Amino acid sequence: MGAWSPASWRELPIRQVPDYPDSEHLARVEKELRRYPPLVFAGEARTLREKLARVARGEAFLLQGGDCAESFAEFHPDNIRDTFKVLLQMAVVLTFGAAMPVVKVGRMAGQFAKPRSAPTEKQGNVELPSYRGDIVNGMDFTAEARITDPDRLMRAYNQSAATLNLLRAFAQGGFADLHKVHRWNLDFVRDSAAGERYEALAGRIDETLSFMEACGLTGDTIPQLRETDFYTSHEALLLVYEQALTRQDSLTGQWYDCSAHMLWIGDRTRQVDGAHVEFLKGVGNPVGLKAGPTTEPDDLLRLIDALNPENDPGRLTIICRMGADKAEAKLPALLRTVKRAGRHIVWTCDPMHGNTVATASGFKTREVDAIRREVDAFFAVHRAEGTHPGGVHLEMTGQDVTECIGGAQAITEETLSDRYHTHCDPRLNAQQSIELAFQIAENLKRERDSRDGRGDRRLAAAS
Ligand code: PEP
Ligand code: CO
Repeated sequence: MGAWSPASWRELPIRQVPDYPDSEHLARVEKELRRYPPLVFAGEARTLREKLARVARGEAFLLQGGDCAESFAEFHPDNIRDTFKVLLQMAVVLTFGAAMPVVKVGRMAGQFAKPRSAPTEKQGNVELPSYRGDIVNGMDFTAEARITDPDRLMRAYNQSAATLNLLRAFAQGGFADLHKVHRWNLDFVRDSAAGERYEALAGRIDETLSFMEACGLTGDTIPQLRETDFYTSHEALLLVYEQALTRQDSLTGQWYDCSAHMLWIGDRTRQVDGAHVEFLKGVGNPVGLKAGPTTEPDDLLRLIDALNPENDPGRLTIICRMGADKAEAKLPALLRTVKRAGRHIVWTCDPMHGNTVATASGFKTREVDAIRREVDAFFAVHRAEGTHPGGVHLEMTGQDVTECIGGAQAITEETLSDRYHTHCDPRLNAQQSIELAFQIAENLKRERDSRDGRGDRRLAAAS
């Protein structure tokens, strides 16, 4: 294998690539995209790496969440605002539980391309190419919609730019001010148990802020009170798009994929000698790697060494997505092997993708109960292994959708069709997301108590 370049992935075996019959059209679009402004800057990606290094050291927690697939149809400022609000609410709940900073990363502003379990989809006697996300083709089950269209790359870029612009304004322009903590609660959540629990917490924050103000500590003196840092991420699946947005940083000479701050490799494309790993090897962004139940400890070590040869904490996040029933069997060997090898990793839990089921009526769904069990298992295994449960990776939305079964609203198989809007996998709705945040916070508090306990015992032993 020759030296890395933004195009060196093209020489390697690749999975999950759409077919572009009109290669000249695709080449024209790639050329145009290469001239477009980067969506994020190298310095921002480096700052996120530093924050993730704190997570790897057990000093912070990562909250990553958003749509399974963003879509052109659901693109609306209210949807972006409401998902952002719920992420802020969750971050507040988690900060209280963990008593440590929460790093916020959206599956937003670029999460368009989807890996599929089969290249075609059959309905009755009709077989068509699978839907691969709005950046590739359309979701309708018609031959026309399923044609791959290179112009969709431009549309995805433009939508990502507009989304990111709004997110930056929300994060820095006063909306994320902790004094507005009550206003993040959405109307349809307010009267639920989770909404009320959140209101009580927000009340405590208000009191704390008044106390701090009386001491002279205000948003003017402490910018963290009136603004927040928010980062973007998506699966680096459609490599023609990622390559077109990869730029050389003028300060360091290092290459960065400027389509998002953080990029991850999916569970289906993590072959160590494959194209997706090759591409992400050479960019300086923080990188995620999905690890499903078929991940073997030795293969994981090889992937870690390929993606993070310098063993830099903050570079690599392993996103475990085992399924509620497999987490306790599969996780310990991975954590132990990596710990023994002395590799610095951010470990996060994606309790969504190992728990997808199909209903008799044909809906893809997930049981909130299974999601909750996988989260608890993730924390329990980390407690047993003495490693830091560094974060969660969720498919969620600020909308009041009915896509996952259960939760306090008791969404059932029968009511799934009421508001089922996802373009790919089922998401937690706002209320289910906040309920889950409280559960994660309780786990974090338990971790904190046991760590403090260990510290106390060490102190006692030393004295
Ligand atoms: C996803 O995150 O939407 C996804 C497809 O996940 P995975 O690669 O873990 O299946
Ligand atoms: Co998904």
